[in-house]
Amino acid sequence: MKHTLFLLGLLLTIVLAGCQGGAPKVIALKIEMQENPEGVASTNPRFSWQIASNTPDLVQQSYQIQVAETKEDLKKGQNLVWDSGIIQSDLSVLIPYEGQDLQTRGVYFWRVKVTTNHGETAWSDVNHWSMALLNESEWQASWIGEDALSNPGETAEENHTRLAARYLRKPFTAPKSVKRAMLYISGLGSYEAYLNGRRVSEDVFAPMVSWYPERVYYNVYNVTPLLQKNDNLLGVKLGNGRYFGMRSSRTQMFGLPRLLAQLEIEYSDGTTDIVVSDDSWKVTSKGPIIANNEFDGEEYDARLEMDDWNTTGFNDSAWKTVDIMDAPEGKLTSQPNPNIQVMEEIKPVHITRLPDGTFILDMGQNMVGWLKVNNLNGKKDQPVTFRFAELLNPDSTIYLANIRQARVTDIYTPAKEGAFSWEPSFVYHGFRFVEISGLDELPPLSNFTGKVIYDKMEITGQFETSSEIINRTFKNAYWGIRGNYRGMPTDCPQRDERQGWLGDRATGCFGEAFIFDNALLYSKWVQDIEDSQSPEGSISVVSPRYWTIYNDDVTWPAAYFYAMKMLHHQYGDTEPIKKHYPSMKRYMERVQQVSMQDYILTKDTYGDWCMPPERQDLIHSADPSRKTAGEVLSTTMYYSLLNLMTEFAEITGNQADIPGFKELAAQIREAYNATYFNADSARYDNNTVTANILSLQLGLVPEGEEKRVFENIVRKTEIDFGGHVSTGVLGIQQLMRGLTKYGNVDLAYKIATNTTYPSWGYMIEKGATTIWELWNGDTADPAMNSGNHVMLLGDLIIWYYEDLAGIKNHPGSVAYKKLLMEPKFPEGLSHVKATYKSAYGEIRSEWTKEESTFNWQITIPANTSAIVKLPKELNTVEPEGDGIRRVTDAGNAVEVEIGSGTYHFSSR
Ligand code: BGC
Repeated sequence: MKHTLFLLGLLLTIVLAGCQGGAPKVIALKIEMQENPEGVASTNPRFSWQIASNTPDLVQQSYQIQVAETKEDLKKGQNLVWDSGIIQSDLSVLIPYEGQDLQTRGVYFWRVKVTTNHGETAWSDVNHWSMALLNESEWQASWIGEDALSNPGETAEENHTRLAARYLRKPFTAPKSVKRAMLYISGLGSYEAYLNGRRVSEDVFAPMVSWYPERVYYNVYNVTPLLQKNDNLLGVKLGNGRYFGMRSSRTQMFGLPRLLAQLEIEYSDGTTDIVVSDDSWKVTSKGPIIANNEFDGEEYDARLEMDDWNTTGFNDSAWKTVDIMDAPEGKLTSQPNPNIQVMEEIKPVHITRLPDGTFILDMGQNMVGWLKVNNLNGKKDQPVTFRFAELLNPDSTIYLANIRQARVTDIYTPAKEGAFSWEPSFVYHGFRFVEISGLDELPPLSNFTGKVIYDKMEITGQFETSSEIINRTFKNAYWGIRGNYRGMPTDCPQRDERQGWLGDRATGCFGEAFIFDNALLYSKWVQDIEDSQSPEGSISVVSPRYWTIYNDDVTWPAAYFYAMKMLHHQYGDTEPIKKHYPSMKRYMERVQQVSMQDYILTKDTYGDWCMPPERQDLIHSADPSRKTAGEVLSTTMYYSLLNLMTEFAEITGNQADIPGFKELAAQIREAYNATYFNADSARYDNNTVTANILSLQLGLVPEGEEKRVFENIVRKTEIDFGGHVSTGVLGIQQLMRGLTKYGNVDLAYKIATNTTYPSWGYMIEKGATTIWELWNGDTADPAMNSGNHVMLLGDLIIWYYEDLAGIKNHPGSVAYKKLLMEPKFPEGLSHVKATYKSAYGEIRSEWTKEESTFNWQITIPANTSAIVKLPKELNTVEPEGDGIRRVTDAGNAVEVEIGSGTYHFSSR
């Protein structure tokens, strides 16, 4: 179908692609945002689905969900535990269960059917979920382990703790035909479980990190296919993770590794068996993993291998009876998010031999995970050592100065002459280069594989433009973001920190959500933050609070609120806000009490962290004219949190709180402007870009003064900084969107594509394949100079999607149910192609703009709509046709309201 429109001498054609129709179909069924999850703890789990259809402007009119305990019942529509009936609604994301009480351990099958304005779907495929152990009393298992340091060199000292892996095993019999077997398991710090020699899952570093004194996660696996008739063996390896083996004086040590396991077997004849961790298990710490520590590395002595230790035939008479360990204090909780897995494998690009006989392997990419070696030629008893680094020194040796105390060394000792293959189990590194010593011959590249690990999640976004610098920055961001997901968003993956620092993620989490489906990771992390909160309401700026830091400042804790806003905005999830509202309110009150004086928030710890310093050897600027006052940062951010709390109060039904938040916000705004705003110059305080942009973007500027404040931002950026960024992690959170919103997308584009210091492009010029901690990461003091930090991305990725691709939630809409498609066209950019898999389906935007031609193809998923704002020069007459609902002349733009489908706008 093709519509041709003329107006003001321009021709605009709108081609509706894919109008052929065909029956709509329900796809992508999810429970609590996962496909067929095991161990759901919510007794009102939420259902989501998408609709696939080629018919334009498809809207769901009603849905019906059915749930039963067997597939057969469900298919016959009988013995249903829930039949929602036909519900008139166009929502298909996070619809809560409202049927009969769900039973502990229960297995449920479900399907959904929808009617649309273009016909109804058939019943969907049948999906299922299983419930967690809903009552703590159902745990019959005990925590077990080896309650001693029992090998030479093992130590629980603060720095460089050292401990061998624990191996545990339990033979049992399953004499009858098995209908279903479920394993409920937790192992602290990390476990790897095997049934009859086979891994129970692909998960690594399970379970998720947590603040153990408050919460301990367990995992649930359906292991039915791994059981065999009669003799079976459940074997578990325990590593230290973050439970034992933290390394700084401020770090809490929780204790020696321990295991909790409960295997529940249901036979076909209806009888059951249970195998639990108890004092009938055996343990040894004399296996081949003689040390493991996420920061220092893993040491593996192949001479201590115990072949087939995890199968029935093994003779464990040399092993000890386990010790019963104290249960960790925290509440045992079914883990709500997927574990970490190996998500990609990469091959190295180069290997060289140094004069001292060591080899340097180059992965070609700063990656996070570990190195797997295959068929390396080893010598009996001669250790092969691997050390991991992000950079090389000028003499081609590895650069370890920025790793601080982490030893980042894996060691493998061969048991015999000849080829060996190996990969570690309980450690990861952030690295591009590996120094290998202890080998005689230069190994071929094919002997090595980089295993890239992060929390299992879908990649949701692709982004490409005509600017090579933007494309490479996007790629660096992609590698940096996934490299810093370790069950929590971390600051960095390589040196002796790797912590859940809040401040690094305030707006980052939102940008990241365009590239990765990070919903469950962040909703888990906000729980870590609440679990780490002090009784007085202080938020630890590292959460889980492995480092407990209660500053009672604002800028870092703000990430807690911003993450919750992101989860609502991006995924339509209000649950985290409801759950953590009282905790957020406690923090707001606490800070008001201890930090507010005359409506100015006085406490600030980190300033506008990592702003570009005036000298390239500095970490932090010493020039007061570059620094933004702490009060400016905390007051503007606290004001924005009050506005968020107003929204959250509305969402949670706490309307009574709203007048208080509003009044306080108004008083703060007034006091702030009275103190920091210079009405003559329209400058905030010392006129840093950060002071002005935060005031502007967070809504504190007096009405009518916005333009003048904005002009100061532009002037300062252009004149004092030559069109370069001058902000640290605070200002950068608003910079790109702010410049664009107030009309200077060209300056934003210049900042995005600069290749001189300071800029993301400068990092690329200097060889970065991730994002640096410092704008001057190539020259600054290595004391704080990670090559893989994502905080300096600020709002860049949001800007890519919202402003360059023009993909945005329409004001008031969440989860992209209604979109505002409105790209901006900076001078010099001629092409953008972006995709984003939203909760309703994939959104696409691809435009090309050359001198006299403009082409834009967009796709929005079924059951969504969009307001498309076309650039002024494409002013149109009213189009008609399927999918196009309305065209309005909106002054300098044409607004086209569309339903779902693919549209091609072009002009000449
Ligand atoms: C971390 C940061 C963190 C900061 C707090 C650093 O050491 O790596 O990313 O936010 O400390 O100031």
